Amino acid sequence: MRSTLPFASARVGPRAKRKSLRSRRPLRLCSRLLGGCRCSLGKSSCPERAARKERNLMEILDTLLHRRSIRSFTGGSVPRETVEALLVAGMSGPAGKGKKPWRFVVVEDAKTISRLAQARDPKQKLFDTASLVIAVFGDPSIADTWVEDCSVAMTNMHLAADALGLGSCWVQVRMRTAADGTPSSDYVRRVLDAPEGLSLEAMLVVGNICEHPAPHTAADVDMSLVSWESF
Ligand SMILES: Cc1cc2nc3c(=O)[nH]c(=O)nc-3n(C[C@H](O)[C@H](O)[C@H](O)COP(=O)(O)O)c2cc1C
Repeated sequence: MRSTLPFASARVGPRAKRKSLRSRRPLRLCSRLLGGCRCSLGKSSCPERAARKERNLMEILDTLLHRRSIRSFTGGSVPRETVEALLVAGMSGPAGKGKKPWRFVVVEDAKTISRLAQARDPKQKLFDTASLVIAVFGDPSIADTWVEDCSVAMTNMHLAADALGLGSCWVQVRMRTAADGTPSSDYVRRVLDAPEGLSLEAMLVVGNICEHPAPHTAADVDMSLVSWESF
């Protein structure tokens, strides 16, 4: 199956040329990389490898495009192993210098969730039907990249939630305030008894859904925002 993505043709040029030179390595390497391919062709001409690459590309794009922010949930709980899968996703991303400055607090208690809803002014309604909230804290003393690291964790969990059939939405906390004027981060730190040294990056609000909004499509992507080689 050939990709119909508008940018699929971008994989040509010097890099592609280098790849085809590398593909002249012996069959042994091709087989090992393919995990079982027995064809006598080089890497670049092996149809099995090409089909697998195409499938992988479509799968990852499908996962990325399917993800949406969801703010209305059907209630009920989420199994513990599913929540743990989200946390594994969150902690599997890259982090500056490999330091992991993130700390997670999973909140399933309805009363606490409703207190967290007050962290922002105006109150965020999506908390009302949520099953759980994952507050992501960073420790700036561990890494000056804590905001980026925690954002990666948020993104991974948000994507994993969608892939697992859950709805979720990122709620911004940094540089926001609660109704009483308190910085939202301080408000949440108090609600969750978090140590002073930790800063709250964001909260992922998660819940069950019965309907998913329309996925994005590759055609929605604005390639005019991209320049090649220089601005
Ligand atoms: C850094 C960041 C902060 C966000 N903050 C909020 C928020 O506070 N409340 C909210 O409802 N959605 C928030 N969102 C979700 C965006 O509104 C949403 O991603 C955007 O509207 C695009 O919709 P989509 O996620 O369905 O593609 C945030 C997303 C990001 C990445």
